Amino acid sequence: VVDVRKFYADTDHFTYDPGFTSTGSCESKISFIDGDKGILQHRGYSIEDLAENCDFMEVAYLLLKGELPNMEEKSKFENDITMHTMVHEQLHKFFDGFRRDAHPMAIMVGVVGALSAFYHDSLDINDPHHRMVSSYRLIAKMPTIAAWAYKYSVGQPFMYPRNDLRYAEDFLHMMFATPCEEYKVNPVLAKAMDRILILHADHEQNASTSTVRLAGSSGANPFACIAAGIACLWGPAHGGANEAVLNMLQEIGTADRVGEFVAKAKDKNDPFRLMGFGHRVYKNFDPRAKIMAKTCHEVLGELGIKDEPLLDIAMQLEKIALEDDYFIEKKLYPNVDFYSGIILKAMGIPTSMFTVLFALARTTGWIAQWQEMIEDPSQRIGRPRQLYTGDVDRKFVPLHQR
Ligand code: ACO
Repeated sequence: VVDVRKFYADTDHFTYDPGFTSTGSCESKISFIDGDKGILQHRGYSIEDLAENCDFMEVAYLLLKGELPNMEEKSKFENDITMHTMVHEQLHKFFDGFRRDAHPMAIMVGVVGALSAFYHDSLDINDPHHRMVSSYRLIAKMPTIAAWAYKYSVGQPFMYPRNDLRYAEDFLHMMFATPCEEYKVNPVLAKAMDRILILHADHEQNASTSTVRLAGSSGANPFACIAAGIACLWGPAHGGANEAVLNMLQEIGTADRVGEFVAKAKDKNDPFRLMGFGHRVYKNFDPRAKIMAKTCHEVLGELGIKDEPLLDIAMQLEKIALEDDYFIEKKLYPNVDFYSGIILKAMGIPTSMFTVLFALARTTGWIAQWQEMIEDPSQRIGRPRQLYTGDVDRKFVPLHQR
C-alpha cells in the first residue's frame, strides 16, 4: 500500500518550491541582478555603462565570450555574424504555410525551430566549433526571420539582409524598405533600436532562459532550444508584457482614467494587473526601465512627436502607482517593458512585433547561457521533482465495467 506522506518524509534532498522563487538552478558568470538595489550587470559591467557606451554587437560578444572586444575582435565578430545573415532560400516556403494573420511569434517558434532541419553541419553540441557556428547563425538570422515574419503579415516582398548595414540598421531596413523605393534608416532610431536590443539581451535565469537551459540539458540542438525559449517568452507575464502594456495604455485611453485602472489592479477580485509593473526579482526600479524612459523621450523628440497621449497616460500611471500604498508595499515598480512599447510604436513597429523584438535581442543571452551550460562539467539533465497529491492504490476496473 502506498503511503504518499511517508514516501515524501523518507525522500532525501527534496525542496518544494513552486515557481522556483528560491531555487538556484545553475552557476553562471553571465549576468548579475541585485533586485533590492535595482542593479543589473553583464559579466561585471553595469547595464547603464553598456547601454550608454556600447553597441549591441559588443554586448553580444561580451555575453558570449566573457570580455568586451577590442577593435579588431569586434570587427571580426561583426564580419562573422554578417556572413550568416541570409537564411536558407527554402525557408521562404515555410512562411507561406502560415495564415497571413498568424501572430509573428507563432511564425518565429516554427521557423526558428525549423533551422535545425537546414543546418545539419553545426548540430553537434559536443563540438565547440559547431556550438559557435550555431550561435553565430542564430544571432545573425534572427533579424532576417523577424523582419520576414512582419513582411509576410503585411503581404510585402521579403527584403534580404544588407551586410553593409549595422545589426540594428539592417533589421530596420529589412522591416521597412521595399524593392520599389530607397529607404534610409534614421540614425537616431537605429541607435534607439540598438539600445533596446542591449536592454533585452540577457537577464539571468528568467522563465525563457531557464526553458532554453532545460531543453538544452537533454542534449537538444540549439535551434530547438531557442525555439523553446521563444515559445516561453511569448506569454504576457514575460516577454508578451510589452505588447500587453501598449494594449492596456490604449484601453485606458485618456490620463483621467488612470485612477480607475489602478483601482482595478488593486482589486483582489479582479484578475487585471498593471502590465509593465512588477518583477519577480526587482523589488526596486528595474534599471532598464529608467534607460528605456530616457530613450523614449529621445525618440519622440527626434520624430517631432510633441503630444503622445500614451506617454502621458504611462507617466501618470507611473506617478500614481509609485505613490500608492498597494504598489509601495508590494514593491511593484515599472519594468523594462513599461516604456519600450511607446518607443516601438513611435518607430512604426506594429504591436504584434514587440515580443518578436524581445526574442531577437534575448537570443544572444539565451545562446550564451546555453553555451555556458554545455561547457559546465557539473551539467546534468534538468529534472524537477513534484509533490504528488493524486489518488493511490486504486482498484483497476476493466473498460467494459466502467
Ligand atoms: N499589478 C497589480 N498587482 C500585481 C502586479 C501588477 N502588475 N504584479 C504583482 N502584483 C501583486 C500580485 O497580485 C500579488 O499580490 P498578493 O501578494 O496580494 O497575492 C503580489 O503583487 C505578488 O505578485 P506575484 O504574481 O506573486 O509575483 P511574481 O513574482 O510571481 O510575478 C510578474 C511577477 C509576473 C512580473 C508580475 O508582477 C506581473 O504579472 N506583472 C505584470 C506583467 C509584466 O509586466 N510582466 C513582465 C515582467 S518583466 C519581463 O519578463 C521582461
